[in-house]
Amino acid sequence: MADTPWNSVWITGASSGIGLELARLMADEAPHVAISARSADALEAAAASHAALAAYPLDVTDADAVKATAERITAEAGPIDLAVLGAGTWKLMDAEDFDLAAVRTGMEVNYMGVANAVAALLPGMLSRGSGHIVIVASVAGYRGLPKAVAYGPTKAALINLAETLKAELAPHGIKVSVVNPGFVDTPMTRDNPFPMPGIIPARDAARALLSGLEKGRYEIVFPTGFVMGMKVLRLLPNALFFWIVRKFILTKAK
Ligand SMILES: NC(=O)c1ccc[n+]([C@@H]2O[C@H](COP(=O)([O-])OP(=O)(O)OC[C@H]3O[C@@H](n4cnc5c(N)ncnc54)[C@H](OP(=O)(O)O)[C@@H]3O)[C@@H](O)[C@H]2O)c1
Repeated sequence: MADTPWNSVWITGASSGIGLELARLMADEAPHVAISARSADALEAAAASHAALAAYPLDVTDADAVKATAERITAEAGPIDLAVLGAGTWKLMDAEDFDLAAVRTGMEVNYMGVANAVAALLPGMLSRGSGHIVIVASVAGYRGLPKAVAYGPTKAALINLAETLKAELAPHGIKVSVVNPGFVDTPMTRDNPFPMPGIIPARDAARALLSGLEKGRYEIVFPTGFVMGMKVLRLLPNALFFWIVRKFILTKAK
């Protein structure tokens, strides 16, 4: 095993996609990698493939279950040094089909799922004066984009949460990172009916994520070219941004 700063790692959203690939890579980096999601079978199958991986099935919207899981991992593998909070859901939705239940689910899973984990992790990390919380957001949180009514706002909230936590927790010895992926080929994006420029395989995304963690980055982005374009979009004045959305994004998203 590589010389690693982590003994006990927790990854949520690890039954598929980026989280599963990260778990597979992380299994060579840390002796204890706890993997969570709702699909117990997928977690058990991953855990059977590597001695470092252990399955902790979980619905991140259940705050009590999240707390109990963090306590179980701590008891069985030691205090959690690194938590990658990646459980997430995406539903394509046009503004004219505004579906309140789906908007609520997006917020419950993507935002409150992370908040539940942060609440479970903080007491231990604060008392030890160490730990690293990694929040998986998205470039979709940079600005409001078409068809992302039930998704973009949840990721914008996570980007804001990460900034707040980073500033306030640094003096307590706790690191915070935010991961803002562009398009990654996973079950989440497989049925998207629109072009996904620069899309990369989940394995490449996980490699980039791990590399960012090893370098101690605050914001970890991939694929770089596409994300840089999205960062430019973020800096544009509103009138120009909305013109670009009308002219180039809305037409392609139809
Ligand atoms: N793919 C992309 O292009 C892209 C771009 C930007 C950001 N992201 C973000 O990256 C993260 C990983 O997504 P992915 O692309 O790897 O998609 P994915 O393969 O669909 O993974 C989503 C993961 O979240 C888990 N999950 C969903 N709801 C959950 C719940 N209530 N409780 C616990 N786990 C739950 C899923 O497992 P179960 O269904 O088994 O619970 C799965 O493990 C997400 O936060 C996503 O928003 C992805």
